[in-house]
Amino acid sequence: MDKVNIILVGFGRVGRAFFELIKEKYDDCLQRYGLQVELRGIARQKGIVLLSSTQKVLSPSYFAEDDLDNLADWIKAITISDLLDEFREGVLVDCTPSNLISGEPGLSLFRLALDKGWHVVTASKGALALWPDELKELAKKKGLNIKASAAAAAALPTLDVGRRALAGSEIMAIEGILNGTTNYILTRMAEGLDFDEALKEAQEKGIAEPEPSMDIDGWDTAAKMVIIANEVLGTEIKLSEVQVRGIRGIKKEIAEKASSLNKILKLFGKCYREKASSPWKIEVGLALLDPVHPLARTSGTSKGIIFYTDTMGWVAVTGGQSSPKGAAAALLKDIISIYRP
Ligand SMILES: NC(=O)c1ccc[n+]([C@@H]2O[C@H](COP(=O)([O-])OP(=O)(O)OC[C@H]3O[C@@H](n4cnc5c(N)ncnc54)[C@H](OP(=O)(O)O)[C@@H]3O)[C@@H](O)[C@H]2O)c1
Repeated sequence: MDKVNIILVGFGRVGRAFFELIKEKYDDCLQRYGLQVELRGIARQKGIVLLSSTQKVLSPSYFAEDDLDNLADWIKAITISDLLDEFREGVLVDCTPSNLISGEPGLSLFRLALDKGWHVVTASKGALALWPDELKELAKKKGLNIKASAAAAAALPTLDVGRRALAGSEIMAIEGILNGTTNYILTRMAEGLDFDEALKEAQEKGIAEPEPSMDIDGWDTAAKMVIIANEVLGTEIKLSEVQVRGIRGIKKEIAEKASSLNKILKLFGKCYREKASSPWKIEVGLALLDPVHPLARTSGTSKGIIFYTDTMGWVAVTGGQSSPKGAAAALLKDIISIYRP
């Protein structure tokens, strides 16, 4: 049996879902994988809570209030660095926001954790999309993992399929519908709404963020494609090298025209190269799919990815729950695969 120390950073939607999930799956991890997953601390902007073990957290009497949010003793005096030193090794689970301009706070957190001998499992996209070479190099030098399934379409398995299920094949191209918000908007536009109506509806349903730029301008898809390509193809493409065109304000007539041609409009991420000797490129933009395309039926908030290979033909995966719980499950999967590869 292995004891796995966890420091959780970020306690918003995904951080809370992860907190609930590891309580729910504590016994399962122990019985099925021989992993004793011990949550040692939770950090957020507001401060840090220090926990002695997940088992104590499991007991309702451990906290005076049920809701950690109201807990009186979010400590300001200790730092994440103190926590990492205190428990010496384990996994830093990052659920902080994805900043696609600076990569922070993920970048500093990853450097700190790796430097102190901790593995990193992340839901945030910024640092890996902006600084893939530095972080990969640092993890390699330290013999540690940075795993990012939760940042690369979360419950939809993208990295595992590309790396493991297709091992031995050569991947010639990757295409993905990787953003639930834009896919929902385009699905509703195909049903007759205009862009503003579809976006408003997505916001009312909690699918789109109040500030939806990262999704509708295509950058969320681009960051996921970068992380997937770098992990699966071994490239070191940076987000700044990606050609990105989003769907902001697209005209209703475009959706109508697509329907009249019996095509399906999608925001598509593509990773390809002209020839085997050419560099890999990533592009994000609108695509008109034939109804027979394996991802054409990926509608609403669903996501999908397709790998084109030399020996296995095309392999497509669709589905995966688009939710904080789905992201939390991807984080847990990565923790398990670090200790049970
Ligand atoms: N929402 C989803 O379904 C989903 C799915 C897949 C991936 N993701 C990714 O998962 C990450 C988290 O998403 P979310 O929806 O949970 O975000 P969120 O609700 O905004 O929560 C962000 C959390 O990060 C904390 N935080 C911010 N800056 C910090 C810092 N410098 N140090 C420590 N903690 C800090 C915040 O602290 P306070 O609480 O103190 O403000 C908050 O608890 C994002 O990168 C997102 O792209 C989300």
